[in-house]
Amino acid sequence: MLESTKTVDVERVKNDFPILNRKVNGKRLVYLDNAATTQKPKVVIDALVDYYSRYNANVHRGVHQLSIEATETYENSRKKVAKFINSPSAQEVIFTRGTTESINLVKFAWGSKFVKQGDVILLTLMEHHSNMVPWQLLAKEKGARIEYAPVTTDGRLDMAEFERLLGLSPSLVAFTHCSNVLGTINDAERICSMAKSAGATTVVDAAQSVPHMPVDVQKMGCDFLAFSGHKMLGPTGIGALFGKKELLNSMDPFQSGGDMIKEVHLDGAKWNDVPYKFEAGTTNIADAIGLGVAVEYLSSIGMENVRRHEVELLRYAFEKLSRIPNIKLYGPMDLDMRGGVISFNLADIHPHDMASILDEEGVAIRSGHHCAQPLMEHLDIPGTSRASFYVYNTTSDIDVFIGALLKAKSVFSV
Ligand SMILES: Cc1ncc(COP(=O)(O)O)c(C=O)c1O
Repeated sequence: MLESTKTVDVERVKNDFPILNRKVNGKRLVYLDNAATTQKPKVVIDALVDYYSRYNANVHRGVHQLSIEATETYENSRKKVAKFINSPSAQEVIFTRGTTESINLVKFAWGSKFVKQGDVILLTLMEHHSNMVPWQLLAKEKGARIEYAPVTTDGRLDMAEFERLLGLSPSLVAFTHCSNVLGTINDAERICSMAKSAGATTVVDAAQSVPHMPVDVQKMGCDFLAFSGHKMLGPTGIGALFGKKELLNSMDPFQSGGDMIKEVHLDGAKWNDVPYKFEAGTTNIADAIGLGVAVEYLSSIGMENVRRHEVELLRYAFEKLSRIPNIKLYGPMDLDMRGGVISFNLADIHPHDMASILDEEGVAIRSGHHCAQPLMEHLDIPGTSRASFYVYNTTSDIDVFIGALLKAKSVFSV
């Protein structure tokens, strides 16, 4: 069990986020929609302004001073991101628009080449649509078949069934490291090792793990890992794909055009080295630089501390929530395998009504199917309300949240 210690100086951290000073409906903003996107510290906002004010230029192309500075800062950012996930090298980190584009890159550039007719693609029932729909399309294109590993009643991956499905020798196993609905943290190291033994290539959706806990791709043993900058204090429109070098080298390009080529002739072209082979055209330079700053900011707090802080918040929230009659909480209650995401329904209050009432109190949560409709169907519910935490949330945020829940309870007389 993780120790519940005061690990993050939250009051200091909060001061770094200008948006947290604003009021919503006359109330202090309590932002609990971090699984959707996170707020940005001033250092990240400043980094964007600094790039556009001082050294805005295209990268990898110019020999003038601004271009040299932009290229250096952009490539340094790649190194920071690589270090953050313990990638063996920066070349194995490709900048993308985010998790969705990273997974689509693997679908197009790896899947189109290596998945064959009759192959099995193994997913889980707790996937976000981003890690489901691309594989459904690939399966259709290739005549492959998708199998879904089920979820137990307490919201864990059913490992016995997963193991049985591995017996079908899937060519690809794609799974989420942490569920954005159930909060379940899957044992990615074990899953990758089992998948490897079965001969599968692994794709890890780390959209909800890289921002919240230490992630080490070498220890995990994954082939590909996808995540989004905007869910980890970085700007929108930037994210990354980690891929093992030998795999990236064996793949066809994703998109084609400038910068991803070494040579172009009238009758064809030679591809650039990785990662540039997968970064066609002018990339999202400013936001990649912003992501590097976000990663530095998180590293200065320490990802172990970020994780411990969220476990403290979860423990506190569960303790309060469990006293509310008629509340249904989804996902495992074991904090060791739980990310800072709480999906719930209170009696028969519709999640959208719940979110609206909470908004009146200045509390931002998410409601709906959370881009996981097959999981909702399995749970036999149209949706949930979802509160999700990050490093700037406090126990007093949770108190306000609980107070707003009790208000909703009394409004609906449930
Ligand atoms: C588990 C998971 N996967 C993928 C995504 C998609 O991320 P993005 O929209 O940043 O591409 C999300 C976003 O909510 C997510 O929670």
